[in-house]
Amino acid sequence: MDNFSFYAPTYFQFGKDSEYMAGPLVKRFGGTKVLIHYGGGSVVRSGLLDRVKESLTKEGIAYVELGGVKPNPRSGLVYEGIDLCRKENVDFILAVGGGSTIDSSKAIAAGTVCDGDFWDFYEGKPVTKALPVGTVLTIAAAGSEGSPDSVITKEEGMLKRGASGEAYRPKFSILNPALTMTLPPYQTACGITDIMAHLYERYLTNSKDVEVTDRLIEALLLTMRNEGPKVIANPEDYEARANIMWAGMVAHNNICGVGRSQDWLSHGIEHELSAKYDCAHGAGLAVTMPAVFTYNLKHDIMRFAKAAVRVWGCEMDFDNPERTAKAGIEALKTYLHSIGMPLNFKELGAKEEDIEQMAYTACYGDGSGSGKMYGFTVLEQSDVEAIYRLML
Ligand code: NZQ
Ligand code: ZN
Repeated sequence: MDNFSFYAPTYFQFGKDSEYMAGPLVKRFGGTKVLIHYGGGSVVRSGLLDRVKESLTKEGIAYVELGGVKPNPRSGLVYEGIDLCRKENVDFILAVGGGSTIDSSKAIAAGTVCDGDFWDFYEGKPVTKALPVGTVLTIAAAGSEGSPDSVITKEEGMLKRGASGEAYRPKFSILNPALTMTLPPYQTACGITDIMAHLYERYLTNSKDVEVTDRLIEALLLTMRNEGPKVIANPEDYEARANIMWAGMVAHNNICGVGRSQDWLSHGIEHELSAKYDCAHGAGLAVTMPAVFTYNLKHDIMRFAKAAVRVWGCEMDFDNPERTAKAGIEALKTYLHSIGMPLNFKELGAKEEDIEQMAYTACYGDGSGSGKMYGFTVLEQSDVEAIYRLML
């Protein structure tokens, strides 16, 4: 196991009606003037926004609002949010929504208190300072409710990039599984896929003797395998929603990723797809993961075989472990298909003629990248192109 430090001080309020704790929690973490940030309207339609406002008002906390966050959140609204926070002397940001809203909130939080352009953080400048952020989560997926990360798309050139820093970890996150019952099945499935990707990206490691995190990841993948189909069949299954929601947090606050190298090639390669086609991140991952895993299979056949046996219940073929490893990837594909995810470029709406350009951007960014992608293996542009071709 590699050396590590781990500090994840988000306060979690979990369960039915927990959104009514928004006011008391903002107060507890020092907020006096709040920006309520939200997406395209699901929280308005469900009545959640009103309940959150009621909770703030009850605590005597003033607020301003900014809605309109799009999936794959854009830089334009972040600039708008920064201006609003400065003008209104906002000292706390409350994200009410999914990963996109939370990520946009984090970007506004850092941008409001920095001198330069917030986008610098998405080009590698460390995030050291930000306004405090709290979240009321409405979809189990990105894990941003417990992570120090934020992913934003710069409209100019549609560049999708991530930033990270402890200042981005939410002060609190409110997780009420019942809020996820209004999700369309497709979005639920995208969330399930993203959670599983966050687990696989950590499972695929070059570190040795990481039994505790291996076992944690396997347990979470098994949970997703079992609970996922339940919520697709019955969106109002509270207990299954609850298990998935907590799994989504645990999958990505890095408790499963400490002491080991991690992969993140699937995410890097997927981000080009959601930047280019504005598809849901989870749907892009459903197409990307099997291709990346197949391409990298020979790098460590036994690791893929272990996942196949322990997560997917495949039989271990000791004479031919590659057969077992491949069966595990097939089982993942079958599962993703069964919950309604796309499995190839056509189903996703991606185009073969864009492959070269996407592989270039994945490796070089806007020209500033190193030309390589580093993860479970090291990939060059030609490798990334070959991986995209496996998705055709
Ligand atoms: O905008 P509204 O109207 O709220 O609708 C959203 C949106 O259309 C809808 N939705 C959310 N909760 C709902 C609901 N509809 C009905 N009922 C509800 N309860 O779902 C759609 C997707 O929402 P979004 O916030 O985009 O989903 P998600 O949580 O999957 O976030 C995706 C973004 O997170 C990034 C992704 O790249 C993508 O940009 N990621 C962020 C990470 C992080 N910060 O740690 C890590 C991830 O790997 C990921 O990259
Ligand atoms: Zn993800």
